[in-house]
Amino acid sequence: MTEQDFIPKSYDNSIESGSVKWSSPSNIALVKYWGKKKNQIPENPSISFTLSNCKTITEVTFNKKESDGFSFDVFFEGEKNEAFKPKIQTFFERVEAYVPFLKDYHFKIETSNTFPHSSGIASSASGMSALALCLMGIETMLTDTIAPSNSTALSINSVEKSQFNQKASFLARLGSGSACRSIEGELVVWGENTSFTNSSDLYGVKFEGEINSKFKDFQDTILLVDKGEKQVSSTVGHQLMFDHPFAKERFDQAHTNLEKLKEALISGDLISFIEIVESEALTLHAMMMTSMPYFILMKPNTLEIINKIWNFRKKTASHVCFTLDAGANVHVLYPASEKEMILGFIKNELAEYCENGHYICDQIGLGANQIQE
Ligand code: DP6
Repeated sequence: MTEQDFIPKSYDNSIESGSVKWSSPSNIALVKYWGKKKNQIPENPSISFTLSNCKTITEVTFNKKESDGFSFDVFFEGEKNEAFKPKIQTFFERVEAYVPFLKDYHFKIETSNTFPHSSGIASSASGMSALALCLMGIETMLTDTIAPSNSTALSINSVEKSQFNQKASFLARLGSGSACRSIEGELVVWGENTSFTNSSDLYGVKFEGEINSKFKDFQDTILLVDKGEKQVSSTVGHQLMFDHPFAKERFDQAHTNLEKLKEALISGDLISFIEIVESEALTLHAMMMTSMPYFILMKPNTLEIINKIWNFRKKTASHVCFTLDAGANVHVLYPASEKEMILGFIKNELAEYCENGHYICDQIGLGANQIQE
């Protein structure tokens, strides 16, 4: 597939107005995307677990208009939100060639998250994927051979689901790179590599191969160490990989780690899994610390938690491990079979390092869903 393949030929239906609603989850990378080229093309491949409970729910209502240009209003958790508009404007500009109906309608975008806004959990993956799915929903209504009698009712049956997901992921990537990994579950790979023959820089693909049952119901408890806004955004962090002294080594390492992780996920090798995932998390933060300008997103409590996890693992031979995204929060990953023991450990020994003792229990999920009302 090339970018050109995502440009639609024409739309068969003319629709005055309608609405679509999707819920899309967040995801947590195991091999990290950090560094990108022009047009949101990643410098290295990444792989993530799709989450289940941390989601964005977005409804897009559209009405035909005559005027030129993009026209939209954004409501976040019921309140009109101006702060999200520039990001959506940029997104619309980037995707317009692929969803050319964008200038034909005024859009009301109503969005909310299942996780607290000020939790330090990035909502760009779930938010941008939910919006991309809504645009795909509208495109389906415009191309569906059986014109919907009631334009609020959307049927995606006539469109190959895999094509729908592929284009949704392609669009989501143009909103936020990691968002392309949120359309499907349980594990999604993004970025061309030799371990996954169907992989692409343009969109995420489902893990090829049988995931070992040990990873099927993996748990992710997110420890909210710092709920504040990050001092350095991911976008700036990615840019700092341009002249980074270790960039080449890092991008090569991601390929090797992905290959090793694929083997571990298939064979059920939890020890290798832990080694790769924790090393990836610390490498991501090492890249930040060795950028110019350098920066640190971890907090003292992030390190306290990491050390506690290491000690606990040594003491109990459990398979708990951690990963980090671009912030201070810690994702505690563990097999469902150890849930009781690890949740006890989190409650008794880790919660004290979280802001107001807050953490969110999540697990590996199956991807986005259309909400039909
Ligand atoms: C550390 O996807 O947020 O979470 O493409 O600029 O929107 P943009 O960046 P973003 O970067 C995510 C970086 C990460 C690692 C990952 O999810 O792979």
